[in-house]
Amino acid sequence: MAATDIDKSSNEEKRNLSLGGHVGFDSLPDQLVSKSVAQGFCFNILCVGETGVGKSTLMNTLFNTTFENEEASHYQNGVYLRPRTYDLQESNVHLKLTIVDTVGFGDQINKEQSYKPIVDYIDTQFENYLQEELKIKRALFNCHDTRIHICLYFIAPTGHSLKSLDLVTMKKLDSKVNIIPIIAKADTISKSELHKFKIKIMSELVSNGVQIYQFPTDDEAVTEINASMNAHLPFAVVGSTEEVKVGNKLVRARQYPWGVVQVENESHCDFVKLREMLIRVNMEDLREQTHARHYELYRRCKLEEMGFKDTDPDSQPFSLQETYEAKRKEFMGDLQHKEEEMRQMFVNKVKETEAELKEKERELHDKFEQLKRMHQEEKRKVEEKRRDLEEEMNAFNRRKVAAETLQAQSLQAASQQPLKKDKDKKNFFSLPSACSLTSGRHFN
Ligand code: GTP
Ligand code: MG
Repeated sequence: MAATDIDKSSNEEKRNLSLGGHVGFDSLPDQLVSKSVAQGFCFNILCVGETGVGKSTLMNTLFNTTFENEEASHYQNGVYLRPRTYDLQESNVHLKLTIVDTVGFGDQINKEQSYKPIVDYIDTQFENYLQEELKIKRALFNCHDTRIHICLYFIAPTGHSLKSLDLVTMKKLDSKVNIIPIIAKADTISKSELHKFKIKIMSELVSNGVQIYQFPTDDEAVTEINASMNAHLPFAVVGSTEEVKVGNKLVRARQYPWGVVQVENESHCDFVKLREMLIRVNMEDLREQTHARHYELYRRCKLEEMGFKDTDPDSQPFSLQETYEAKRKEFMGDLQHKEEEMRQMFVNKVKETEAELKEKERELHDKFEQLKRMHQEEKRKVEEKRRDLEEEMNAFNRRKVAAETLQAQSLQAASQQPLKKDKDKKNFFSLPSACSLTSGRHFN
């Protein structure tokens, strides 16, 4: 149907018709109930409070069972969230209950970042749901919805005022989750002190702009009870897993040397009020508020962050397809720009490398030329030396030949000399005076 047709039909007056008999669509609410019952429900509670403030005990008391319970140590490096899911059944109604515990909350010396893991956890659950919603093949009815429906904020029963950690954490959480503040271990504070403490807490929350969950008063069936319960906030609760005999009845209570504090006695504490409001009257409203208010806000911010919007700058409706096309164009433009940038960068880099290589080549060439010159110089010197040596050798040879000739001549001369010498010798030994002279010297 075109947009103009829709406008026309919505402007047309609706006509009332009376039915001639029973048709059957009055069973629609029953159909819804049976479908919901068959499908089961899920409810997720986040317990925020300092270590040992009574979170686990209260959960056990609230659901009248014993959940797994591990005591947290006071020496955690940081805060972490521990979710645990249980399947509960009451009559024929199935409830998938998730209790998320803040382990180590308030135990660090520097508590500045204590709220962060809690905010991150809540956002992650919203993100998971959003991702499922954005899928082409969605399975929202089958998937386990882990979004937090209620945050029970446990306030320590100091009787003074809220700690800055409480105020900062609640302020950071109030736009993401329904917060119900409760005063834990309310049996440790006197009645008059408790009254003043409640007033102080509420005034501090208001002056710091912290939005807490208000029980809805628009449904006539619950207007009265919810309005009166809003005035009782924050609930002062006592938890106990112990059963004590009061009269002839076993009741959940805490027994002290001076008396018994009954958990379910409304004049002792607000436990019953909390249970009524949280489980019996407003569970569906909490689930609805989570989806319609907190998740919607998360989704809107996230989609806007991703560039989606409902109207264009002239306040004209902007279809999702147009937004997608615009976003795609913007993305492609960005991509092209980046590609061009990278290409330019690559070209520059190649040019730079080319210049560097050329410079290196020139340097090498110079070096080669220098070496060549040095080599030629060396060669010239060696050549010169060779020539000198050759000349020396020639001179030596010449001298040698001369010497040999001389020697040969002297030898020749010497070979002719002995004949003459022998003659002289003979003449010498034949002389009697000469003989006497030499023999006289030898035999003395
Ligand atoms: P962690 O999980 O370790 O952070 O502690 P928690 O906040 O779960 O506290 P838990 O329920 O384990 O209770 C700690 C102690 O406080 C136990 O000894 C409980 O018996 C006691 N306690 C719990 N609720 C109350 C209460 O309402 N009043 C009093 N007086 N003591 C309580
Ligand atoms: Mg615990």
